[in-house]
Amino acid sequence: VNHLLGIKYLKEQDIQLIFETADHFKEVINRSIKKVPSLRDINIANIFFENSTRTKLSFELAEKRLSADVINFSAGQSSVKKGETLIDTVNNILSMKVDMVVMRHPNPGAGIFLSRHVKAAIINAGDGAHEHPTQALLDSFSIREKFGDVAGKNVVIVGDILHSRVALSNIFALKLLGANVKVCGPKTLIPKYIESLGVEVETNLRKALNWCDVANMLRIQNERLDISYFPTTREYTQQYGVNKALLNSLDKEIVIMHPGPINRGVEITSDVADSKQSIILNQVENGVAIRMAVIYLLAAKIK
Ligand code: CP
Repeated sequence: VNHLLGIKYLKEQDIQLIFETADHFKEVINRSIKKVPSLRDINIANIFFENSTRTKLSFELAEKRLSADVINFSAGQSSVKKGETLIDTVNNILSMKVDMVVMRHPNPGAGIFLSRHVKAAIINAGDGAHEHPTQALLDSFSIREKFGDVAGKNVVIVGDILHSRVALSNIFALKLLGANVKVCGPKTLIPKYIESLGVEVETNLRKALNWCDVANMLRIQNERLDISYFPTTREYTQQYGVNKALLNSLDKEIVIMHPGPINRGVEITSDVADSKQSIILNQVENGVAIRMAVIYLLAAKIK
């Protein structure tokens, strides 16, 4: 069985195939065709051990647009609260004849662990601070849509790189697709290994923004933070927050991205998030077509 556990396991041609398939599904959606019959005999379980708005809803919508049968599981309302393990939880769900599992979990590698123990296709919907592959795919797809190509574009990822699965998956995807990538943030939030991935570090936000075509602004992952080595939120916003005055003072017009959820007034102000330079809601829209493509391509290997 094939899985989508991380961008790390993909080749450039895998991503291009996902993009071409997503192009097709986006065209279908834009023609107001609500459902295609592709996955009528496929059962999918969305199991979320961490909170989610965008990922959970867009996976469910993507599955329903493909005519799959869908069950949803949130750990907070489940027998996990009574001490049931991950493997027991998933094996019980699989006994109900589920073909595919979309899982979000706080532990890095949870999807990899699951793929070794259960007979279903696993899609990683975010595993701790490790990877969030469909987010990176929809981010690169959105850059490709905006500029025509990802290759040769200058992309800076700003913020809490250390705790961000979005940053790591984005770096893998952008490098595979030929973009130039920098990360920008306080040294305490940039992991030491980052340069070994072919990424440059820039701690000065203005320099990073003047270099880039696209700035992907990340949220501070307070839930994963050791508060003792973090700058205060006020200090962070002063040095690494993007506001309209800063955006207008740059040498060129750049594109603003954000995976969500946004902490308005911390990493970006509302007038930046809601500006013409922002493609944040386009990212969300593209998430449905990308997830349709990923599910469709994996399901073809199950049938
Ligand atoms: N971007 C993202 O993963 O958002 P959610 O946590 O709301 O799914």
